[in-house]
Amino acid sequence: MGKTKMLLGAALSASQSEGAYDEDGKGLSISDTVPAGRRDLTRRYPKPDGKHYYPTHQAVDFYHRYQEDIDLMAECGLECLRFSFAWSRFFPQGEEMQPNPLAVKHYDDLIDKLLAEKIVPIVTMSHLEIPQALAEKYGGWENKEFIRCFLRYSQFLLEHYGDRVKYWITFNEMNMLLYFPCTLAVGVDLTDKPEEAKAQALHNMLYANAQTIAAAHAIGKGIQIGAMIAYSPIYPVDCRPENIMLAYDLERNALSIADVLVRGKYPDTYERKIDEQALQLERTQAELDTLAQNPVDFLATSYYCSNATSIEATAEKSAGNLFGGARNPFLKTSEWGWQIDPQGLRYALNYLYDRYQIPLMIVENGLGARDVVTNDIIEDDYRIAYLEAHLHALNEAEKDGVEILAYTMWSFLDQVSASSGQMSKRYGLVYCDVDDNGSGTFKRIKKKSFYWMQSQIKNR
Ligand code: BG6
Repeated sequence: MGKTKMLLGAALSASQSEGAYDEDGKGLSISDTVPAGRRDLTRRYPKPDGKHYYPTHQAVDFYHRYQEDIDLMAECGLECLRFSFAWSRFFPQGEEMQPNPLAVKHYDDLIDKLLAEKIVPIVTMSHLEIPQALAEKYGGWENKEFIRCFLRYSQFLLEHYGDRVKYWITFNEMNMLLYFPCTLAVGVDLTDKPEEAKAQALHNMLYANAQTIAAAHAIGKGIQIGAMIAYSPIYPVDCRPENIMLAYDLERNALSIADVLVRGKYPDTYERKIDEQALQLERTQAELDTLAQNPVDFLATSYYCSNATSIEATAEKSAGNLFGGARNPFLKTSEWGWQIDPQGLRYALNYLYDRYQIPLMIVENGLGARDVVTNDIIEDDYRIAYLEAHLHALNEAEKDGVEILAYTMWSFLDQVSASSGQMSKRYGLVYCDVDDNGSGTFKRIKKKSFYWMQSQIKNR
């Protein structure tokens, strides 16, 4: 057992699970504009055209079925659920003075149901979900108007739900902005200076994060608030010094963001890049002071795989979460080519804890795989093997002394894949009967991994 009792649970996100994309006053979100099939996440999409299928529009219908789904969570024994609120349900156009009462009630009921089942809510405020109206009007996070709109949203959430929700995460995987800026509405396609747009957007998000932390701490009520990166250790393919330096440098893409979140200051190496690229950023001293004064209470990260890297352009390639790299010959891969590395999780946790000395959360970890249903039975031993090995690594890290507040595997239900839009890339403990074209009964079927997870939690 670690310094604090780690909560064991699972995760979901609103845009990938809820559906009901235009019900009860919800506005369009940027994720609702991305069609199924051959998706290009490096560009932004216009409003849905009626010709394509949009997977988030119905997703797995968690919006309507949350009661029955939370009953399943309780049956599984989940101690916590990490999920996200849909910003565009509360503020359909992003700029209303008051939130949509139907959204407020929906999440009131959902949180009350979780609490009634003794499942601790961990809420992400923005997970790939931004009102499309804001993106159309202002471009994206590079525009400071976004800060004002987000703060109205985050302040409302903290004031209204803070008595019941103790753990908050402002932003999902902030380093996603570097690789898929359009998924965070960053207007790289609206400018001839995309690097400047990204760096400005990142600063604006960090500033919005710091102000939200200040608001949370002013409210008190025992709220703990953090933010999230996607951290994958990057190994040099060999001990060639150039490869070691390259790996170190690539890791800084995520760590520079975590440095600001935890230490309140951009690292010198980041400032050097800004200078060398002559990026013109709007960062006031007051904003930098706010970053310094409002570090996160905990750092959250996803962990799916590790990556390797080589300076040789001819090195064999591998895919990964957010970004890929070189093939690591010592690791097997998922069907989507992500390199499975349980020991990398122990490494990641130790590395982050040594560096930051604050509590951590692993808020995503899981295996995307094609499941086969035979007579309503899903024998997903591959997922059990993945989770078992990663839980072992997690426990080892805890024994190493790493303070881990929560582990929420990805995901409780199958849901729409963020990168591919597929339903067939399934992560859930519970199968949802929907296919890549949106056909199916939406029936829930407990997989073998559901029962495995149930016994893990019960026998802790
Ligand atoms: C993370 C995201 O990057 O990875 C999730 O926060 C996403 O939203 C998860 O679903 C798995 O990625 P994918 O592309 O396989 O769904």
